[in-house]
Amino acid sequence: MIKNRILIIGSNGMLGQQVTSLFLNNDNYEIRLASFEDDSFFEELPYTKIDISNKIEVKKLFLDFFPDFVINLAAYTNVDKSETEKETCWNINVNAIEYLAKYCVPANSHLIHISSDYVFDGLNGPYAENDLPNPISYYGRSKLAGENIIKKFNIPSTIIRTNVLFGSARFGRPDFVKWVVNSLENKNNIRIVTDQINNPTFLDDIASAIKKICDTSKTGLYNIGGAELLNRYEFTERIAEYFNLDMNFVTPILTSELNQPAPRPLKSGLINLKAETELSYKPRLLNECFRLMEKDWLKNK
Ligand SMILES: NC(=O)c1ccc[n+]([C@@H]2O[C@H](COP(=O)([O-])OP(=O)(O)OC[C@H]3O[C@@H](n4cnc5c(N)ncnc54)[C@H](OP(=O)(O)O)[C@@H]3O)[C@@H](O)[C@H]2O)c1
Repeated sequence: MIKNRILIIGSNGMLGQQVTSLFLNNDNYEIRLASFEDDSFFEELPYTKIDISNKIEVKKLFLDFFPDFVINLAAYTNVDKSETEKETCWNINVNAIEYLAKYCVPANSHLIHISSDYVFDGLNGPYAENDLPNPISYYGRSKLAGENIIKKFNIPSTIIRTNVLFGSARFGRPDFVKWVVNSLENKNNIRIVTDQINNPTFLDDIASAIKKICDTSKTGLYNIGGAELLNRYEFTERIAEYFNLDMNFVTPILTSELNQPAPRPLKSGLINLKAETELSYKPRLLNECFRLMEKDWLKNK
């Protein structure tokens, strides 16, 4: 049997770890991992250290592997730093995407790329795929430009917009849920905004959607968000309720009180209808996500 070859770029990142885990014991595909760090978190699979903003490194990797699918989960993701580190942000979120798309042409590869609800201004969410983007931060502008640059190339491509990823990535910084749980367990006071609305997306759900796209070769733009639309304070309440933690340590605030360098889209969120219809995407309810996370934490303790 000829196996499709999948190149997972950014395999050490939060979403990268989840997507890699899903493909780990799958005999239908031949997998190559690539990420920024010297070493991979997954010793079982072949790995290449890469800086995707280096055109020569990208070319070398394509010539070496000739992927059928390229799943790009690497990005410059620091929203506030993007306001000052503009060149680095653009190199990774735009120029690098151009290099990936460019080498997809001769390799005849299908490019799957992850974008963000930050392409919107957050005045009128939740958003459908055909709503007009209007980014309000440099990060958002770079993510929109990354989407647009792919359209310049005549390649099969799928762009996924997602928002507020959460789940139990084993390595790296804790996600929002783990951070809230750790903070409240340690009786640390935290301030949480009441005016940012999203449908937080469970890593397992979006990883399954990405695998479905590889299995079906679907192209186009898809929103992949969570099942429940709520503001960040309500999200925190749901976490505290499930894990039996004390909300008295949580102070509700407005985003403006944080004085962050980058403005945030406030009334955001992504409508999943297209993915539900075309990919049979069915995101889990929050309590089910929390239950699975808890199980993972116990397993990896
Ligand atoms: N997290 C969210 O809530 C969220 C929401 C909407 C959209 N997204 C999008 O979802 C995707 C995955 O996000 P994530 O949260 O998993 O991000 P993440 O944890 O920050 O992972 C990104 C990965 O890319 C790597 N990377 C950075 N620059 C690179 C380069 N030049 N070459 C190769 N690798 C490089 C990073 O390495 P280092 O860590 O060593 O820099 C990291 O391993 C991104 O496209 C992001 O924009 C995320």
